[in-house]
Amino acid sequence: MLGVLYFRSIAMLSSQTLTQFLLHHLAKHPDQITLSLLLSDLATIGKAISQKTNKAGIAKILGSAGKTNVQDEEVQKLDMLSNELCKEYLTQTGRVAALASEEEDMPVDMGNAGKDAAYVIAFDPLDGSTNIDVNVSIGTIFSVHKRLSGIERTDERQFLQQGNEQVLAGYILYGSSTVLVCSFGDGVHEFTLDQGLGEFLLSQEHMSLPSNAKYYSVNECNMKYVCENDQKRMLWLRDESGLRGRYIGSLVADFHRNLIKGGVFIYPEIDGKNTGTYAGKLRLNYELKPMAFLIEQAGGVATNGKGDNILDMTPKSLHQRCGFLVGNTSVVEHIEKIV
Ligand code: AHG
Ligand code: MN
Ligand code: MN
Repeated sequence: MLGVLYFRSIAMLSSQTLTQFLLHHLAKHPDQITLSLLLSDLATIGKAISQKTNKAGIAKILGSAGKTNVQDEEVQKLDMLSNELCKEYLTQTGRVAALASEEEDMPVDMGNAGKDAAYVIAFDPLDGSTNIDVNVSIGTIFSVHKRLSGIERTDERQFLQQGNEQVLAGYILYGSSTVLVCSFGDGVHEFTLDQGLGEFLLSQEHMSLPSNAKYYSVNECNMKYVCENDQKRMLWLRDESGLRGRYIGSLVADFHRNLIKGGVFIYPEIDGKNTGTYAGKLRLNYELKPMAFLIEQAGGVATNGKGDNILDMTPKSLHQRCGFLVGNTSVVEHIEKIV
């Protein structure tokens, strides 16, 4: 019996740790030492937020923080806490020069340690906030660019770079398990947090979308808020695509399921207040660009619903929103043709 337990414990360590993975990565990309250490920093932040979300109910950090953010959205306590965690931790490590966040009006200076840093980072510190209080999966999304020279590190233009210029992007999903999914631009890899070891262990390498889509994800209640063409698209998905509907309301969770099982996620521009103008809900810089980077690495595609590849779009402002269509290329292309 002891022999079995011994081999089982060894088996647990048969997966590469994130550190071992990064050492292999560095052997192929010796110029990415700081970027690799930055991913390690993000893994540490993910562990800390995971720990907070796992006991939010008892740590009295559920519910609203009693303020609204630049998005004019009610901020949850865990949004604030996650945002502070990202800022505080990255201020000490000195790997990034500036940080943009859904919860910050303007880019934040990452202090003296980061004054010469070569990268800037944009965060959705906690995605899926409306699901925090009901114990449904939420996540942290990150997007890393090279710092632009010749302009202040906190100049908004540091973050108005095209998605295909990202050097690292990914998310940490706090679900039934905590997973880190990321790409340096050479494939998408998933690491699962072994809570006992406190280590992220490689669980899927070079993830690729299944050839057949299985699910579609859309908030059906928006049918009355979208333009006629997007209504046609939503009806095609529901009645003719043959796909099954799944919608969690956390982009990270819906994206992760569709990445693994195959599928499309659509969030069209909406006119929620009947003003006659349609606008996107999701944010280009720290939700759509990182997800588009990952899906393209996994063999799919992401557009703004108007035929523009998200990765080719040059953001006009830090918190710019736009429509979103992401997933299996064949399905995205079919939907784009419904005009
Ligand atoms: P956040 O919590 O960071 O504001 O993001 C919420 C986003 C995204 O996670 C999700 O796909 C979408 O909002 C859900 O919006 P609806 O509730 O309007 O469907
Ligand atoms: Mn979000
Ligand atoms: Mn958020």
